[in-house]
Amino acid sequence: MLLAIVENGEKRLTMSAYNHATLIEQDQHQMHGLHHPSRAKNIAMIERGDGVWLYSTDGKKILDAMAGLWNVNIGWGNRELPKVAYDQMMDLPYNSGFAGMSNPPSAMLADKLAGFFRPYMNFTYFTSGGSESTETSFKTARFYWRQLGRTEKTKIISRLNGYHGITMAAMSATGISKYHTMFGPLVDGFIHVPEGNPYRYNGDMREGETVAQAAARALEEAIIREGPETVAAFISEPVMGAGGVMIPDDGYFDLVQAICKKYEVLFIVDEVICGFARTGEWFGSHVYDIHPDIMQFAKGVTSGYIPLGGMHLSDEIRDVVLNAPADQSWMHGFTYSGHAAACAVALANIDIIEREGMLENSKTMGARLLDGLQGLADEFPNIDNARGVGLLAAFDVVKSVESREPDEPTAGVISDLALEMGVRARPLLGGTIAFSPPLCITADEVDFVVNTMGDAITRAGG
Ligand SMILES: Cc1ncc(COP(=O)(O)O)c(C=O)c1O
Repeated sequence: MLLAIVENGEKRLTMSAYNHATLIEQDQHQMHGLHHPSRAKNIAMIERGDGVWLYSTDGKKILDAMAGLWNVNIGWGNRELPKVAYDQMMDLPYNSGFAGMSNPPSAMLADKLAGFFRPYMNFTYFTSGGSESTETSFKTARFYWRQLGRTEKTKIISRLNGYHGITMAAMSATGISKYHTMFGPLVDGFIHVPEGNPYRYNGDMREGETVAQAAARALEEAIIREGPETVAAFISEPVMGAGGVMIPDDGYFDLVQAICKKYEVLFIVDEVICGFARTGEWFGSHVYDIHPDIMQFAKGVTSGYIPLGGMHLSDEIRDVVLNAPADQSWMHGFTYSGHAAACAVALANIDIIEREGMLENSKTMGARLLDGLQGLADEFPNIDNARGVGLLAAFDVVKSVESREPDEPTAGVISDLALEMGVRARPLLGGTIAFSPPLCITADEVDFVVNTMGDAITRAGG
């Protein structure tokens, strides 16, 4: 198969190294995430990436407007990160962080992250991804309260439609019911509250209340109902990602942070999607003035070049962990925590984001993308609620603007047509189509995304 490849602005033709038909056959032995057999036959076999572009073994070129799964922040085809990983692996790929050993890259990354998120947060535990980070945060919240003698403080409150991963406790905190249906029962002690969607609020609202106030009240009522003495933590993404790119209503985080303080409930912020410049700031918490007790990250910390995640702790929690008696140590740890090659890649990745002005590009290209999506909402009667912060954006496909009723089937058709025309966006619950492109995206590429979506909406019937 002949492939067109653009490198350093120059186009050249090359042959795929693979036999596409054979690979599709071989892939039938692999189970993919969110698996249903109907999807397995139609799979795009991606061979390589370059900037915002992906190339498949059957010669398709696709602008990946999702940056993989919200994570390839610096873009595809970077040559520096593989070299850093190679060099580190030649010296020391990994060593066990248990029983008194560390390694230079994980020490340097922990030092780099100290105070980077918030001045009062200086302590990091590394994991290999988001779900492991969620589990780690929950266990640490319980550990903290137990050390303070508050052994009943174990429950976790999370938001409907929030996504925190798929391991058992993370799945139980995830508020999207289709992730639960076939795997129940959920772990005990997980409570969901309305997420405070300003476009389509799903809780009860009193006269004169804003969505932020109603959603914060729902949290407070849940804490009181459960008993504050039993609630360990509340977890929230700054901008809800998989649940529908939900930008919080004005003032929401001020209110919920005050409630958490009032009832002594730890605030865990899940920066797995929003972290590392996705929102135009280093972290979503910086956009919404969130000051959590625990912050968890993954994805963009290495731009997906190698798996890494982590949990970042306030000094107050760190002190409790460090002062625990010898027979009550924090008996938690993964084989690959502090993986040397992954931490070396993360350091280089953060450096690239800084050096190549990606924070700024996330802001300016994000504004251009939002403007384009707003234009589509103005043009088409079934497109509404264009929204975004940095390079995290979405619109909703609705039956009508008046009813705001989601039209999920049409959103699926639009996404499929866009993919056929070379743009990968992601249909989500509620008729939402999400965009989260690499932070290196150019103005022309943003325009290509917007124009292609416009063509897809037109072809789907406008
Ligand atoms: C906000 C959030 N938290 C946690 C996770 C889980 O991360 P992982 O898939 O790396 O386990 C995700 C994954 O998309 C996420 O979006």
